[in-house]
Amino acid sequence: MIPQQVIAAKRDGGKLAPGEFALFLTGYLKGQVADEQMAAFLMAVQFNGLSARELDVLVKVMLHSGRVIEPGDDWPGPRVDKHSTGGVGDKVSLVVAPLAAEMGMVVPMMSGRGLGHTGGTLDKLESIPGFETRISLERFDRVLREVGCAMIGQTDEIAPLDRRLYALRDVTATVPSIPLITASIMSKKLAEGLDGLVLDVKVGRGAFMKDIDEARALARAMTRVGAARGMAVSAVLTAMDQPLGRAIGNALEVREAVACLEGGGPRRFRALCVELAAEMALAGGLASSLDEGRSRAEGALGGGGGMERFERLVAVQGGKLDPARSALGLPVAPLRKTVSADREGWVSRIDPLALGYGLIALGGGRKRQDDRVDPRVGFVMEVEVGTRVTPGDPIGVVHAGSVDGLATGVRALAEAVAIGNEENTAPLPGVLERIRSPGATTPGRGFPPA
Ligand code: URA
Repeated sequence: MIPQQVIAAKRDGGKLAPGEFALFLTGYLKGQVADEQMAAFLMAVQFNGLSARELDVLVKVMLHSGRVIEPGDDWPGPRVDKHSTGGVGDKVSLVVAPLAAEMGMVVPMMSGRGLGHTGGTLDKLESIPGFETRISLERFDRVLREVGCAMIGQTDEIAPLDRRLYALRDVTATVPSIPLITASIMSKKLAEGLDGLVLDVKVGRGAFMKDIDEARALARAMTRVGAARGMAVSAVLTAMDQPLGRAIGNALEVREAVACLEGGGPRRFRALCVELAAEMALAGGLASSLDEGRSRAEGALGGGGGMERFERLVAVQGGKLDPARSALGLPVAPLRKTVSADREGWVSRIDPLALGYGLIALGGGRKRQDDRVDPRVGFVMEVEVGTRVTPGDPIGVVHAGSVDGLATGVRALAEAVAIGNEENTAPLPGVLERIRSPGATTPGRGFPPA
């Protein structure tokens, strides 16, 4: 296999022979294909896509690049996970993993770092002092049995090829590709030994899929891969036309997730957590209808059990959250500035893409693979689309680590928010559509008939 021949074939729109493609991929892990060659290949895929056969090879090689956990019967409940295709302010996993555990599911969650302009669950978790996301599979298993949920990243043991490709895609603008996202997500999830999977497919300007047709195509590609391997997969298409919740930035988002687990938090964010936990209950066979799932999720969220599980999860994975201290003991940015409305009207747009890139500019995301993320920085919005404002009303607060950062953040926030004259600017509804895997055959635990 000659790497540049494989790259040229994809660049020119050709089809790769399965054996040669597999050698190219495994060669990357062995150091026979360099980062720059893989980056060029990923860009060729970004433009020319992959055939169904090529996608199958990519999923298989990524899945088997590490260990694959077999679903077992010795768990106290169905093993169900939720994964998002990526959004701005998306801290749903921090709420939904302990919530689903509280509802009786076992949640072996493998997440990623920030990707492109979107934030990553691992970076959020690592803003908690001491929290370890790189733990052995044995320890992962122990945490799962003790708490009902565990949260890790791709490791050398599970999905190592995704870990390498993910980091490369983050900084080479090769994220928004349907086959690359499909293989990245499904290889990790198939390795987790799940009974059911819920995919939160984000749609809109702050998502990788900008419109509903692209999001449907991504959802169908992922549910097809799951169904082919007998996994019950449900894709929920949800709005990303404005940031999710008020906080954008790693430690800030952990605080908002905790507020939600404690019974508060922004209304739309909370509603989405309930909706996804309900879908997980359905996927795991713990509820026979979405309504039943919703009422179980609301009960678990209101009862405080989700928060108690989150605290246990943090403690057993080495983290220190201190509810008695201000900001829970999380790192806090030294500089803050409120940005105010300069005119009267209704908020007509909060551009999630501008805020996502604004967070990277503040140091809360990566420009290069080896960048360290500043967990303290970000934005806290005071308005949402449709809020009425008059001049001087606060629209958001920038949290920065330096004077230059503060100025950059203020510019990004001011540019992200538009104020118009129309009262009736309606945001997209939270949940747009659901697509469930056809013919999923997980015995006894798949979806009930429609
Ligand atoms: N989440 C992933 O794990 N991979 C992607 O490519 C996008 C979102």
